[in-house]
Amino acid sequence: MNREVDLRYLFRPRATAVIGASAHPDKIGYKLLHNIRASGYAGRIYPINPKVKEIDGLPCHASLAEVDDHEIDLVSIVIPAKGVYDAVRECAEKKTPFASIITSGFSEVGNLAEEQRIVALAREHGVRILGPNIFGIYSAAAPINATFGPPDVKAGNVAIITQSGALGIAMIGKTKIENIGLSAIVSVGNKSDLDEADLLQYLVADDATKVILMYIEGVKDGDRLVEILHRATRVKPVVVIKSGRSKRGAMAAASHTGSLAGADEIFSDVMRQCGVNRAETIQEALDWCKFLSCSPAPHGENAVIVTNGGGIGVLAADACEKFQVNLYDDTETLKEIFRPVTPEFGSTKNPVDITGQAQAKEYEAALEASFATEAIDAVICLGCETATIDVDLLEQSLLRVHARHGDKKPIVLSFFGGEKTEAGIGRLRTAGLPIYADVYQAVSCLGAAYVHYRNLKNAMATPAPVDPPVIDLPAINAVVERVRNDGRTFLLAHEAQEVARAAGLLMPKSGVARNLDEAVRLAESIGYPVVMKVVSKDIIHKSDAGGVALDLEDRAEVLDAYEAIMHNCRIHAPRARIEGVEVGEMVKKGTETIIGARRDASFGPVIMFGLGGIYVEVMKDISFRAWPIDRGEAMAMIKEIRSYPLLLGVRGEERKDIDGVIDTILRVGALLAGCPAVSDIEVNPLVVYDQGHGVKAVDMRILLYPPKGASHA
Ligand code: ACO
Repeated sequence: MNREVDLRYLFRPRATAVIGASAHPDKIGYKLLHNIRASGYAGRIYPINPKVKEIDGLPCHASLAEVDDHEIDLVSIVIPAKGVYDAVRECAEKKTPFASIITSGFSEVGNLAEEQRIVALAREHGVRILGPNIFGIYSAAAPINATFGPPDVKAGNVAIITQSGALGIAMIGKTKIENIGLSAIVSVGNKSDLDEADLLQYLVADDATKVILMYIEGVKDGDRLVEILHRATRVKPVVVIKSGRSKRGAMAAASHTGSLAGADEIFSDVMRQCGVNRAETIQEALDWCKFLSCSPAPHGENAVIVTNGGGIGVLAADACEKFQVNLYDDTETLKEIFRPVTPEFGSTKNPVDITGQAQAKEYEAALEASFATEAIDAVICLGCETATIDVDLLEQSLLRVHARHGDKKPIVLSFFGGEKTEAGIGRLRTAGLPIYADVYQAVSCLGAAYVHYRNLKNAMATPAPVDPPVIDLPAINAVVERVRNDGRTFLLAHEAQEVARAAGLLMPKSGVARNLDEAVRLAESIGYPVVMKVVSKDIIHKSDAGGVALDLEDRAEVLDAYEAIMHNCRIHAPRARIEGVEVGEMVKKGTETIIGARRDASFGPVIMFGLGGIYVEVMKDISFRAWPIDRGEAMAMIKEIRSYPLLLGVRGEERKDIDGVIDTILRVGALLAGCPAVSDIEVNPLVVYDQGHGVKAVDMRILLYPPKGASHA
């Protein structure tokens, strides 16, 4: 659902008012008013305070109603919490489209009811609320600095949306030091009404914004955020920092799959799915934003490393792998380009090693060659300070190269050395060169640019035909209904099989026998060997009860096993109601995988894939996606696990039936999305055979939501 909000007047208010404007310089109401005036805001400004006649020469009004202006688009509210509801009522009466509630003391301290009362009033009258519990909004377009942060924001093309107020205020100062210009910074605080998705929608369409940075603590309306992020990243780069990597918000351990990962892993994977650059630290995020806001975008995947040292070159090559920067490896062309500028004992392979004896002119020549070569799309220039290199001359060379070509292809630089090098790095940074003391820092910036490059490329590619799997939802819902009527929140094995079949999953052949004759008939129609399991909702641990028999080769073994199972179960659980014995195909060995799906508190339906056994349990080698996904995205999530090569076939083994896995992922996702009563699904194991031989969903567990007010039975 697209509920786009028209935020034009939030970012370009024609007139603005401050309820709680104060003449006391130490109060937030003073600071905010002062910032609006200092920001060069050209619209009308109305301080509202019944106790004061004027503030710094600006006439004060006792209430908003008294102001004779019908274009007050933004009202900042800076009065104690108890007065905020009435202040919002004033906004409603004045038909103000936006109220920015700075005040704390609402849902963040448990006062959710008052926050909801305010939002309800605002919604009723068409007032949109920013906050509460925020530092305000700065917009370069107006320009207006309606925050109580620093008065001097550097204008530019990076927009920041932040959930944390204090961090946001600090970022205003930090971005200035880092020479990052802001098109906007908006504090969303408690997100009682407007949230990051609303702001994102506006900023994506805002021509003055080139890069968007979001600091997120928690996601409220995740499926909408995913949808908007998907579109946003295909237009401009989005960088996200999210705090809360701990397991506290971990998925409920309701199912085995559920206990595998915390919310943070899901967040990371979903961000990747959306094409978002997720930064680990604020510094990393700011580095990326700065680079993305200044650098030209790459036109292709081929990067080259130019270095005077092997070690630092290898470090950069490692970093390239980590940040998915592809190193150009056409050795013949590399030789042709770099031989004239590389000593005999250097290397023209990538990393191109112009050796420790390289001086400024060799660097300049190698960089010129890189920029002149069409096949090279990005340059990583590295150096270690040597005893012979003239750092000042090198600085001049780098400045010249950057001035000549810095707008054509992305270049990142990293130099390592003593005081002279550090000082040079500082000067070059001030001059606008993307130069870093650390190689990983430099390469990570290029990696961020490549994420955006690939987003744009994907956006231009013809989308694969969407071919959603057909599943029999009425049949599935009928089973779910029966389970519910039986007072259960879990499906028994045969019920789960019924659902799996209706969802089109490939299951081992099986059936339930009520007597000896049926057991034999079933075994013969399935084909030997078979397995047999007791069917009883009163016997959960079937093996412990002696209710399982494996690898039954013929009629006689089936007869014996049937008798044995009945006998064992009657002794183990004399009062158990036994519905029969399930006779099933003995599944051949293959590669065991797991597919899980559950409704995530933040993102709605989420699907998981991993290889079975230790890969999932010990190595947590799994990937997630927010639903819906297509075949391409299902393939991407399969490829993302570290053990993916096992599916391609190792040590002479055949490639596995990855198409079968994709099909199962899509069917499980469609099943969860189509059945709101289902909370968790786990197919474990999904046995995958060699390509062309399919997959088998050997076991499937399905949990339902408890009826309202009850817990999982
Ligand atoms: N209409 C107009 N003016 C009013 C009204 C009203 N309904 N009610 C009060 N005022 C006036 C007051 O008389 C006062 O004026 P004065 O300075 O002339 O006396 C002024 O408005 C402010 O009211 P105070 O009662 O003095 O409130 P104070 O300034 O101490 O606190 C504030 C108000 C800042 C909103 C406080 O309640 C609060 O929430 N502080 C936390 C803010 C915050 O941290 N927000 C999150 C930011 S992000 C981060 O973490 C950094």
